[in-house]
Amino acid sequence: MKVITTIAEMRQVRSQQTGSVGLVPTMGFLHEGHLELVRRARVENLTVVVSIFVNPSQFGPEEDFISYPRDPERDLALLEKERAGIVFMPEAQEIYPEGFSSWVEVKRITDRLEGVFRPGHFRGCATVVAKLFNIVEPDRAYFGQKDAQQLAVIRKMVSDLNMNLEIVAVPTVREPDGLAMSSRNTHLSRKEREAALILWKALCHAQELWDNGERSAERLRQEMTALIVGQPLARIDYVSVADPETLEELVEIDRPALVSLAVWIGKTRLIDNISLE
Ligand code: PAJ
Repeated sequence: MKVITTIAEMRQVRSQQTGSVGLVPTMGFLHEGHLELVRRARVENLTVVVSIFVNPSQFGPEEDFISYPRDPERDLALLEKERAGIVFMPEAQEIYPEGFSSWVEVKRITDRLEGVFRPGHFRGCATVVAKLFNIVEPDRAYFGQKDAQQLAVIRKMVSDLNMNLEIVAVPTVREPDGLAMSSRNTHLSRKEREAALILWKALCHAQELWDNGERSAERLRQEMTALIVGQPLARIDYVSVADPETLEELVEIDRPALVSLAVWIGKTRLIDNISLE
């Protein structure tokens, strides 16, 4: 496994690849969710590039950039085991040199859900992902459905800017009890870890209502909200039943829907979602 820290070397190694290249962008502190992306990329490509970069520009000033968990040595050991070919691990200076001043903004869908609570987040995300695409020039890039809005934003960017690669969505990997895997789960105390299950319970409840024929989006939002409010350690940012492409809230669930939520458990903000179709 090759570990690369500079853009120049990444480009040089890229130019030597003869078969297809799959890119898995991550911020490290890898878990089974990330590794599933790597496995999928390995099946579909000759070479897999995993990037590890905690992207400062997608964190708000009050957000957890400093405390975001990091463990590069463990990450490299895990990726070695998964037989990832190349790990691209640049320093912040390499990606954002002095005077950096170009940004990718995807409008409209970023005004909703996460965008409301994390202004500037998707601008940072889209910009770093566009840069990674330009540096690595992958044939395919792999993203988790766990971050459904991020996936929608990246798809829109690729389509709007005619980027020449395929975006592959990978289903959310969960703990045995249903909690979506996330690097931020490590911040949860034992009590909070138990309370965090309320996200999955609320999503399962929505699925059950829908399975039983309920088609009022408001009814789903209300019932999920009531469940979460009953958990004293939880505080809701949003509970949404929306169109999966435009992310506009639905009234009637008369087409596939994205059910998503963002909930604080103590000082940790968790997101999760399911698709109804
Ligand atoms: P990060 O949170 O490290 O996630 C990297 C990728 O792993 C994302 O595509 C995310 O959706 C996926 N992922 C995370 N948890 C998952 C789970 N439980 N199941 C399946 N996939 C999961 O998302 C980012 O980093 C950054 O915003 C990034 C795209 C790297 C840009 O900086």
